[in-house]
Amino acid sequence: MRFELPPLPYAKDALAPHLGAETLEFHYEKHHRGYLTALESLLRGTAAADQALDAIVRSAEGAVFNNAAQVWNHTFYWHSMKPRGGGDPPAELRTALAQAFGSVDGFAQAFLNAAVGQFGSGYAWLVRRGPEGPLAVRATPNAANPLVDGDVPLVTADVWEHAYYLDYRNQRAAYVRAFLEHLVDWEFALANFRGERTAGVS
Ligand code: FE2
Repeated sequence: MRFELPPLPYAKDALAPHLGAETLEFHYEKHHRGYLTALESLLRGTAAADQALDAIVRSAEGAVFNNAAQVWNHTFYWHSMKPRGGGDPPAELRTALAQAFGSVDGFAQAFLNAAVGQFGSGYAWLVRRGPEGPLAVRATPNAANPLVDGDVPLVTADVWEHAYYLDYRNQRAAYVRAFLEHLVDWEFALANFRGERTAGVS
């Protein structure tokens, strides 16, 4: 294997009741691993085979991009959550959120709107517009990743139906509210805000 599937940063039942063990079992073992297996197959014997994952995401197109970005996005998504997450962001992030959205609640509403408004599959993201830039919320379709546009992702919520259907059926908004109130890992967001880490995804 050229890439390893990074381990989940918590047990598969650790996000319950907000995301159940069956969701994580399928999402991680079938979907995430499936993208990695497909990527391995596509890269075998190609010039991109020796590149880091984020370099492939930034430069690839078509099926290689779709599978590479889905590997990256899912690892980033797992790290965007933690058991007993949510709550108040750290002060440094709270200040930046207030500057961009008026308040933390203003951010939460913008993130919810982006997530619910994304037609079909995709992701909602809190990003920094460049390493020193302001915060923004984005929604992206399918496998698309804000790295490609020079943004710095801080956290993401996967809004493909496979992320929430077992727990919430078609109620995407209820899932995203749970993500914001109970799951989001603000310490991970802060580390990304400071440029301290890239989620161990390459
Ligand atoms: Fe997913």
